[in-house]
Amino acid sequence: RPRVLSGIQPTADSFHLGNYLGAVRHWVALQDSHDAFYCVVDLHAITAGHDPAVLHQRTRRAAAQLLAVGIDPERSTLFVQSQVPEHPQLAWILGCITGFGEAGRMTQFKDKSQKQGSDRASVGLFTYPILQAADILLYQADAVPVGEDQRQHLELSRDLAQRFNTTFGATFTVPAAHIVKDTAKITDLQEPRAKMSKSSSAPGGIIDLLEDPARSAKKIRSAVTDTGREIVFDAEAKPGIANLLTIYSALSGRGIDDLVGAYAGKGYGDLKKDLAEVVAEFVRPIQARTQGYLDDPAQLDKLLATGAEKARAVAGATLRTAYERVGFFPPV
Ligand code: TYM
Repeated sequence: RPRVLSGIQPTADSFHLGNYLGAVRHWVALQDSHDAFYCVVDLHAITAGHDPAVLHQRTRRAAAQLLAVGIDPERSTLFVQSQVPEHPQLAWILGCITGFGEAGRMTQFKDKSQKQGSDRASVGLFTYPILQAADILLYQADAVPVGEDQRQHLELSRDLAQRFNTTFGATFTVPAAHIVKDTAKITDLQEPRAKMSKSSSAPGGIIDLLEDPARSAKKIRSAVTDTGREIVFDAEAKPGIANLLTIYSALSGRGIDDLVGAYAGKGYGDLKKDLAEVVAEFVRPIQARTQGYLDDPAQLDKLLATGAEKARAVAGATLRTAYERVGFFPPV
């Protein structure tokens, strides 16, 4: 079976619909066909300052949400990144074959460091994509399901795998990005040309999986649309309506054409009202299941520790090979 790996940062109390539709939904689907490794990337979540207690809680909440949406710990290896020390160990080696300029060209780093003021941005923010490459290469992943915003980071992972293999001998599988076009960029409800983002969207622009559906309904009602009246799918001319149709289609399983046909002659208000209902029906059971996992943190932590053990078995073997190739003594 081919391998798949992906990760999500515990930097918010809830996943948003962009995380779910762009990535996590595909994680669930790929469990059927792939040997799957999914991690909550807490090491990645401390690059811009954090509160330890909040991080701890968010890491649990992220794991609980992954289980609630259908990650099955019997079939997949679900773990917390910091419990597998091989990740930063391999990241060091990969950092030594990454060019300074190459890392500096990562657009997410440029955007975020600019926002923070380039002197205040941490070295961790700079080396973040190298750690991400280590996450992927340790598991010899064939495919990495992510949203469009991760494409450049995936390209770096591929480059580093190839460079290591050429320099030190065949070691890593060169991973392919698994980006499903239709939902690869869910946009902000208030700024329908920008991606929905936990770090940069205003609260009104994001639909959180764990928020009160009445709140989501209100945000959907005030979502920015164009001044026209017709419900058609046109991402260029009508990005707001296109985004609502994309979310509606992905959550309901109805095709875009089917929806456009069904709303012919109806108004934006009808579409928004029905979408709010679709969202509410979708999130309610997820919220209940998430709460169920959070009600028993000891059990959840145990499940994650088991996942980390399984992950270490694979990551440890890869790291051992990488150590040997670069001339290190074996890890003890
Ligand atoms: P993160 O935590 O920001 O996001 C998790 C996943 O959600 C996707 N995503 C979106 N997809 C569609 N539309 C959106 N508006 C949207 N917003 C977010 C992201 O593309 C991502 O797939 N660097 C990664 C975490 C990471 C990782 C890895 C991913 C660390 N190591 C190894 C894959 C493999 C990140 O910050 O994702």
